[in-house]
Amino acid sequence: MKDFLWWRDGVIYQIYPRSFADSNGDGLGDLNGIISHLDYLADLGIDAIWLSPFYPTPDKDFGYDISNYMDVDPRFGSLADFDRLTSEAHQRGIRIIADLVLNHTSDQHPWFKESRSNLKAAKRDWYIWRDHPNNWQASFGGRAWEYDAPTGQYYLHLFTKEQPDVNWRNPQVRTALLDVFRFWLGHGVDGFRLDVFNAYFKHADLPDNPPKFGLRAFDRQRHIYDIDQPEMMPFLNEMRTLLDSYPERYAVGETYFASPQKTVSYCGPDRLHAAFSFDFTSNDLNYPWNPRWVMERVMKREVNFISADAWPTTVMSNHDLPRAASRYSRGEDDTQAFLAMTLLLTLRGTPFMYYGEEIGMRNIHLRRNEILDPPGKKYWPIYKGRDGCRSPMQWDDSAFAGFSSQKPWLPVHPDYMKRNVNSQKADPDSLFNFTKKLLTLRREFPALCRGDFVPLETPPGMLAYLRRSGDQSVLVAMNFSNGETGFPPPSGQWRVLLSTSKGSAGALTAGEIQLLILE
Ligand code: GLC
Repeated sequence: MKDFLWWRDGVIYQIYPRSFADSNGDGLGDLNGIISHLDYLADLGIDAIWLSPFYPTPDKDFGYDISNYMDVDPRFGSLADFDRLTSEAHQRGIRIIADLVLNHTSDQHPWFKESRSNLKAAKRDWYIWRDHPNNWQASFGGRAWEYDAPTGQYYLHLFTKEQPDVNWRNPQVRTALLDVFRFWLGHGVDGFRLDVFNAYFKHADLPDNPPKFGLRAFDRQRHIYDIDQPEMMPFLNEMRTLLDSYPERYAVGETYFASPQKTVSYCGPDRLHAAFSFDFTSNDLNYPWNPRWVMERVMKREVNFISADAWPTTVMSNHDLPRAASRYSRGEDDTQAFLAMTLLLTLRGTPFMYYGEEIGMRNIHLRRNEILDPPGKKYWPIYKGRDGCRSPMQWDDSAFAGFSSQKPWLPVHPDYMKRNVNSQKADPDSLFNFTKKLLTLRREFPALCRGDFVPLETPPGMLAYLRRSGDQSVLVAMNFSNGETGFPPPSGQWRVLLSTSKGSAGALTAGEIQLLILE
């Protein structure tokens, strides 16, 4: 495709390294496991991999608590393995995005160990210490302040107490963190996913957040002093200058409770390339899922992302949320998963596909004593944590789904005998093969990647829109209902590019999806 820009036109595939493939039989996925499946990813047709953290970690938040930013946890491999992964991926035209967790470190990071050692420690000010806590809450539960007896002060942590927040107002800290970017750029990384980036800076005076109505203590305050501080922008400018000194590098920010307007304001040629807007994700398994709801969300996003500088992202699933197929499907029926995949790959915005989404993997269910995720342990049974969406990739129907030769760190979903990559590859009507076809069409038709988005009026139960670029128009039509729906396309000659059943152009059977092109 002419002018193909990988992070705008391509598809990014998120891998949670400990759950993708285990090469050394310890029950934990690793970098060599990923390397052994790069051909699979190239064949699927994705353009980049976002790797959730693979750095040394005491695992208090499963890798999102980092004790050394510039190394690989030995359980996942070595720096040499990482270099091999990057080079093997690049040979296949696949880019690598590293996850940088820079709002906080692990409490086992040498910086924090030194910081907490005494009041006069050189790195004392690298974290946020106070004699008296304010009213801030940790999003994983409880107060955001932990008393540290040896020095008699409290330190701030917006997540678990083992994840102290670094003090971004200290220039030495900023220099050290920019060096982390440089380090991974030096190792051939093409982009970064910035974990909760809009929480980096806190208000200098740490005032109490004002109250509001909400269920959890965390939701009962307006987060105006702990996130989205103006000091964020100059840093983003500096980071972007660094990225732009390399060709085609990318940064996508994970927004943390940011308003849509704020989210968009973080994107631009001197800031981030993109920031997640999470329009279609939810912790709530009963979240609505119907064409009207979907179109409302899409249009809100279209309005927010109107500026040419802000390119949207589409996310249906990730490592923090119940998988889309579990939210929208009943049992093993994949009808809704096909619809969700179509939206993911044909709405305007960069698709982020979560490992296993291409085969419709479902969440696993765990008993209370099996839960590993800290917020799950804390809030059970109101909230059962995020382990459910992190189960091992289902490659085949052999023991442990071909993920490992040993018992994996989390159980494999019991449906793996039927639902796995091998079986879906062999079935021409599987979600896997449908996903592959959509990915092929995206490569062929620029309208699907970077075209405008034009909603169409439809009968109830249907959703339809055009993607248009130059003189190319692709129509995407989906029947969410249980009956057949007639939908006459706008005037012109429309040819069927892809259809999930045998309906003729504009007449869609229950659950059918059609992609048409204007000739
Ligand atoms: C982000 C990550 C999540 C992690 C949290 C703290 O939200 O996606 O997995 O627990 O940040 O780092």
